Amino acid sequence: MSRLSQKKITVVGAGYVGMTCAQLCAYKNLAAEIVVIDVLDGRAKGIALDLNQSAAVEGFGARVRGTADPKDTHGSDVVIMTAGLPRKPGMSRSDLLETNAKIITSVADYVRLGSPDAHVIVVTNPLDSMVHLMRAKTGFPGARVTGMAGVLDSARFSWFIAEATKSSVQDVKAMVLGAHGDSMVPVPQYCNVNGVGIQQLLDKGSIEAMATRTKNGGAEIVGLLKTGSAFFAPASSAVAMAASILLDQKRLLPTACWLNGQYGFHDVYMGVPAILGKDGVEKIVEIPLDNESRAQMHKTAGAIMADVQILRDKRLL
Ligand code: 2OP
Repeated sequence: MSRLSQKKITVVGAGYVGMTCAQLCAYKNLAAEIVVIDVLDGRAKGIALDLNQSAAVEGFGARVRGTADPKDTHGSDVVIMTAGLPRKPGMSRSDLLETNAKIITSVADYVRLGSPDAHVIVVTNPLDSMVHLMRAKTGFPGARVTGMAGVLDSARFSWFIAEATKSSVQDVKAMVLGAHGDSMVPVPQYCNVNGVGIQQLLDKGSIEAMATRTKNGGAEIVGLLKTGSAFFAPASSAVAMAASILLDQKRLLPTACWLNGQYGFHDVYMGVPAILGKDGVEKIVEIPLDNESRAQMHKTAGAIMADVQILRDKRLL
C-alpha cells in the first residue's frame, strides 16, 4: 500500500473516466483528500459517498469529497481534468472541440484562482488542443500542464503486441507519440517485449495492422459501447501520470507536453517522451527517430495546430 501523502487531488468530472480516476487515486492512497467536482452535485456526492464506503473493505485512508462548488477544490496539488462531452459513434475527437473548450475555460478559471501551484493533467478531448487551451487559460508554466494521451495509446499498442506475440503484456513496453488522434505516431523501434524488439518478433504487416488498430483504439471502443467512450484505460493512464508527479517517481512516460523547440517544434503541445516528477515535466527526452517517424511527427503537428487554429478563429483561445 503506498504511503498516504498529505496531498489533495481534484478530479473534474464525475463521468466514467472521472469516477474511475477517483477510485484509482483512493485505492492507491495517492492523496489524503480527493475531490470529485461535477455540475451534477448529487452525482459527485453520491460517487464520493459510495467510494468512501468501500474504504472499510479496500483499506485506503484517503477521503473522497463530492461537490459542485469550485471553492472545495482550492489548494489542489493535482487536477485531473476529465469533464467534457465524450464521442458518439461516427464522431471524431475534433467534433467535441467547441463545447469542450468552454468547459476547459470555466475550469481553468477556478483552478488558476484556487490552486495556483497545481499540476493539471488534461484528459478532455480533443486532447492536444484542450491541453493547449488549459495552459493558456490557467497561465501556468507548460511543465505543470500536461495531456494524457500517449500512456493510453501506448497501453493499447502494448496490449495488441502482447496478443500478437502471445507474450505477457507485463513484459511489453510500447511507445506512441504525437497527437491523440488518427495522426498519432506509434514508434515500433522503441517497442519491445522484455528488451526484444518487436521488429524481431513480428512482420512489418502485422506491426502496421496493430498501429492502425491503436490509432482507432478509442473509436473501436466507442463503436462497441454505443453510449460512451473508454474509461478504464484512460483513467489508469491519467492516474499513472498523477502518481509520478505526486510521488516524484520520475517515470519516463509519453506525455502531451508544451514544446519550445524540442523535436523542432515551438509553442505546440505534442506527445513526446517525458520524465514526470514533483516539478511536473522535468525533462523532455529527445529520441532519435527514423525518417518515417519524423515525417509522421510533422504531420501530427499539423493536425494539432489545425484544431488550435479553430479555437483561435472562434475566439476561444
Ligand atoms: C480514448 O481514446 C477517450 O480519447 C479517449 O478512448
